[in-house]
Amino acid sequence: MSSLGNHSRNQRRPSAARDHLLTAKINKEIVATMLGIATSMPWDEFKEAIALAASRPDDLVEDGTLPHTNSNPTSENSKTESSTDAKIDELSSFSDSPPPSVTRILYTHNDVVARRFIKNLMGAAGLSVKEDAVGNIFGRWEGSEPDAPAVSTGSHIDAIPYSGKYDGVVGVLGAIEAINVLKRSGFKPKRSLEVIMFTSEEPTRYGISCLGSRLLAGSVTLAEVLTQTVDNANVSFLDAAKSAGYAENEDFSNVFLNEKSYSAFVELHIEQGPILENEGISIGIVTAIAAPASIKVDFGGNGGHAGAVLMPQRNDAGLAAAELSLAVEKHVLESGSIDTVGTVGILEVHPGAINSIPSKSHIEIDTRDIDEKRRNTVIEKIHESAVSISKKRGVELLEFKIVNQDPPALSDESVINAMESAARDLGLTHKKMISRAYHDSLFMARKAPMGMIFIPCYKGYSHKPEEYASPEDTANGVKVLALTLAKLSLNS
Ligand code: GLV
Ligand code: MN
Ligand code: MN
Repeated sequence: MSSLGNHSRNQRRPSAARDHLLTAKINKEIVATMLGIATSMPWDEFKEAIALAASRPDDLVEDGTLPHTNSNPTSENSKTESSTDAKIDELSSFSDSPPPSVTRILYTHNDVVARRFIKNLMGAAGLSVKEDAVGNIFGRWEGSEPDAPAVSTGSHIDAIPYSGKYDGVVGVLGAIEAINVLKRSGFKPKRSLEVIMFTSEEPTRYGISCLGSRLLAGSVTLAEVLTQTVDNANVSFLDAAKSAGYAENEDFSNVFLNEKSYSAFVELHIEQGPILENEGISIGIVTAIAAPASIKVDFGGNGGHAGAVLMPQRNDAGLAAAELSLAVEKHVLESGSIDTVGTVGILEVHPGAINSIPSKSHIEIDTRDIDEKRRNTVIEKIHESAVSISKKRGVELLEFKIVNQDPPALSDESVINAMESAARDLGLTHKKMISRAYHDSLFMARKAPMGMIFIPCYKGYSHKPEEYASPEDTANGVKVLALTLAKLSLNS
């Protein structure tokens, strides 16, 4: 039914260079010289320390000297560029499809290896690492007020089939690098800082988007559904999770966050749209995330021989799916707003033979809008079309299932202010914008004041191998994230 079962399991072994990256040590000397001054130093000196720390080497080569690259430690962004970018490249090698594409699906071998890579980097950054029953990974840097709600940041590293290296990854590796930058600057957190790698933001394997963050946000329905869900190859979520070392405790309500876990959540992400690049702006300050919904539809007909069954006698399930796909486009365009979008990303027919009339069809529809009511109207119209098409074509509407119909989320003023002033302090151009893609932030907003930092990406490309963010833009994002975390950590 889907491409999921077919991806090759390309198992790669860590190279010596990778081992080196995994075991890279924080440069104790630099940390030591900076320690103790950051929290007592005036804010404008501190923001300079952040910028400087972002350009300093964070690891020693084996003989104790500094790495050969970035020989000029004061050159703009030099270390953060190379450090984060090398790790982005490294992580992209854990993939089930050939480069430059990346395919990393929940609980597969490459997902498990990539998770190990992240946990090692968290450990090397001096974070204490924990995982929950679905494999959300948490790396904590304890602050001087360890009982106060922490400031959290993070994103995802799973990648849809044949996508790129940056979606989500920038927000996880960038968060770990932001912690390294803060450590090199000598910063001492008051509220603890926590990096989160969320499980399965992408819906590829089990059809559930933002699986880890949705559960952290307390979805009772999801906690129940997960105990019965299977993928297209009929592998249950429980079996897959266990094979990856999770779900020892099958009561997923254990994953729910307490109300007071976090005082703020910030996610760094590529824009996945062209605005920042077109306008030559370094940083996007996200004010809201659009409302996403996904729907699964199945039609059934009699099928039959492609030559022998005459046209008036047919009830072709494939044509019903094709007609509904066109209806999705029509209803979206009828909304009259450029902000309403709809996509049929999966269209499958059974039995899938050129000389056989499809007896079954399956489509999956993704529709979104920044206006929830308008998005819901589109869903109602799609449903009406599915019913009328099935009647007109004499096919059975076997299923019309709204998998999720999520409301939009607003960023919190306090986090917006911290992100904006961080960008201003660092002298970076910035603008407020909305996110048309969904993110784990959509769900973290239910548990903590939320904000997102966007960086430009090449031509706005995303969810395809051409996805690209420049090292300089990534380094800018890391610096803004580091300074935002520092500000939020010191907030009472
Ligand atoms: C996230 O991957 C999205 O589809 O917006
Ligand atoms: Mn994505
Ligand atoms: Mn993403």
